[in-house]
Amino acid sequence: MHRIVQLTDCHLFTEKATALREIVTWPRFQSVLQHLRQQFPDFDLLVLTGDIAHDEAAATYDAVIAELGDWIGKVRVIPGNHDNRAAIANRFPGVQPLCSDRIHFVEQWSDWQIIGLDSQLSGQVAGSLGSDQIQWLKERLTASRSLRTLLFLHHPPVPVHSPWLDKIGLQDAAELKLLLNEFPQVQLIGCGHVHHEIVASFGHATVFSTPAVGPKFRPRTEQLVIDLGPPEYRLWELAPNGSWTTQLFQCTSQP
Ligand SMILES: [Fe+2]
Repeated sequence: MHRIVQLTDCHLFTEKATALREIVTWPRFQSVLQHLRQQFPDFDLLVLTGDIAHDEAAATYDAVIAELGDWIGKVRVIPGNHDNRAAIANRFPGVQPLCSDRIHFVEQWSDWQIIGLDSQLSGQVAGSLGSDQIQWLKERLTASRSLRTLLFLHHPPVPVHSPWLDKIGLQDAAELKLLLNEFPQVQLIGCGHVHHEIVASFGHATVFSTPAVGPKFRPRTEQLVIDLGPPEYRLWELAPNGSWTTQLFQCTSQP
C-alpha cells in the first residue's frame, strides 16, 4: 500500500503572525504536521498542491522546509497561483524543469505513477497547463499505458458550482479532458485552489479537491465566504492491485 498525504492552500507568510482574511495560517499548518506525526508518520510521499507561500517570499519557503524537518526528502511540490515557481524549483526535491519554464514531478511505484503538473499562469489567479505541457503529458502517458496514474494540479479542471471560483479555474480543461479520454489509466486527479472538497468525474478519472490548510471557503456560494472550520488534509492510499481509497482529516487541536 502506497500512502500519499496531500496538503493544499497553506497560504503562509514569512511573518508567522500574519493573518489572511482574519485567519492566522501558520498555526494551522503546524497543527496539520502535528496530526501527521501522530497518525501517519510513515507516509511515502507528502504533496503540497500549491498556494504554499501567500507572500511568494523565498524566506517563507525556507521556513516551510525548516518546519518539515526530516520529511523533506519525501516532499513534492507543485505551484499554485500564489507561489514563486523559481523559489520552489531551487529548494524542493524532485522538481523537474518542463517546457515553457514550467516544473513537474513524477514518482513511480510498482504499477502506479504520480505526476505533479504546473498550472500556474504568471500574474493571474486562473490557471492553465498550456499546449506544451499537455503535449508532454500525452507523451508521458503514451509511454506508460500500463501504469495507473494519479495526477496532481493546483487548479480544478471541473466546475465547482461557485460562479466566482469557476471563473478562475483551469482555463484549458477542455484540452486536458480531450487528452485524458484517450488514457483510461489516469484514474485519479487531486487538486487544490477551491479551499473545500468537491468530487467529480473527468474523462475516466475522479477529481477530488481538498480543503485548505489555510482559510477554507464555503461551497456553492456566489461570493467568497470563509468557513471558520479547522484545517484539513487528504490521505490517498494506492494498492498494488489498483484499488485505492482517499479520505480527509480535520485537525482540531492547535500546536
Ligand atoms: Fe488558495
